[in-house]
Amino acid sequence: MKIARFSRIGFILAAAGSAVGLGNIWKFPYMTGENGGGAFVLIYLLTITVIGLSLFIAEVLLGKAARNDSVTTFETLAPKNGHLWKYAGFIIFAGTLILSFYLIVIGWIIKYVYISATSLPTAVKEAGATFGGMVTTDVVGQFIFFNVAFFITIFIVTRGIKQGIEKVNLILMPLLIIILLALFFYATTLSGFSQALSFLFVPDWSKVTNTTVLQAVGHAFFTLSLGMGTIMAYSASLSNDTNIVRASISVAVIDTAIALIAGIVIFSFIFTGGAEAAGGPGLVFISLPPIFAEFGSLGNLFSVAFFVALGFAGITSAVSLIEPTVLYMTNRFNLSRARSLVYLGGVTYVLGTMALLSNIEEYKSYVTFGGKGFFDILDFTSSSIMLPFGGIIIAVFVGHVLQRERVYSLLKEYMSDRVFALWYFTIKYIIPIAVSAVMINKIFF
Ligand code: TRP
Repeated sequence: MKIARFSRIGFILAAAGSAVGLGNIWKFPYMTGENGGGAFVLIYLLTITVIGLSLFIAEVLLGKAARNDSVTTFETLAPKNGHLWKYAGFIIFAGTLILSFYLIVIGWIIKYVYISATSLPTAVKEAGATFGGMVTTDVVGQFIFFNVAFFITIFIVTRGIKQGIEKVNLILMPLLIIILLALFFYATTLSGFSQALSFLFVPDWSKVTNTTVLQAVGHAFFTLSLGMGTIMAYSASLSNDTNIVRASISVAVIDTAIALIAGIVIFSFIFTGGAEAAGGPGLVFISLPPIFAEFGSLGNLFSVAFFVALGFAGITSAVSLIEPTVLYMTNRFNLSRARSLVYLGGVTYVLGTMALLSNIEEYKSYVTFGGKGFFDILDFTSSSIMLPFGGIIIAVFVGHVLQRERVYSLLKEYMSDRVFALWYFTIKYIIPIAVSAVMINKIFF
């Protein structure tokens, strides 16, 4: 199969574009808030360093070795039983589930671009009411913005991602970083700043349950786009001269730094404004607008820029959630990109609509199963179950199915033998054992 190749920086940009998304700025702060702060952050950081980075390298390696869609990758790389291993490639379908609720949140962000341009709520209470009102009552508005997010994403993927999206990333990622840094320096002057730091970095172990651990591990996968073949799909387009280890480290560092900065900013504002840390999915929408409002029309501008940049960070991730399945369908079934997207889009549309309705007071009873709304079910099943499970599959495949020699030959240029041995041990034993332990502990206890 012919696959276009990234430039060296193109790969890092695309992978960072995928990794840095709503997971960093929307999800990380609110999960941290709900899970009591520091202990959650510490488990998350530990998982990223030990498990996340190793798996990232493993996915890059598989993509580069096979340069194909995920199903063909497992099928052809397996020394034997390729006809069974190919099913491992189906981990890509977790992306469709994630995309369905991800697009709803991008829809909220688009709506907040509009709110930012017109009238910002001036107090945290009012901001809470604005957000809550939108999510629980505004069916039509949310549906329209979900559609906008949906069609932008589909349009970009139809076009192929390398041209337009790379350029968009190149402008908007730096913009997002500049805005976040500006907010960060402002946050250091706030009275809530030191409280935010101790909330985020001083662990309170009494808050830790097996759910906390599972969520922190799941989120480490989510934030690095691991466990469902995104990084594999992008790595199929790696240029041969990319140092894959250095590229993986760069992406992990950028991703983690952005999440931590976003967390510090948001909690400084939250504590200064006297809002609730466990504010749930509305956290970023409720904590920031009142602060922006204090700056008058300059604040409106700042707020628009923030939500635009956040929206684009989201779009570049959304694209990466659907690209692996498109690669699979065009490659294995000879479908055009457009036709693949009609099928995948159809599924996303139905699931997304159900998730949206599950937040609406009037309709939630129809889309609540076992006491949980469909939006939460999609989020929990994909991030906390499917991604860790996909990670285990990848680790077992690289550590136990591929020959060690083969793996070594793909990595030896980029690592010393000692580092390789450490990495290999992590892939072979630590990841399968630790991640299964976390999942089993949650499911049975
Ligand atoms: N990493 C993105 C975020 O943090 C979301 C994402 C994109 C993703 N592609 C993925 C998550 C693949 C898991 C798997 O917002």
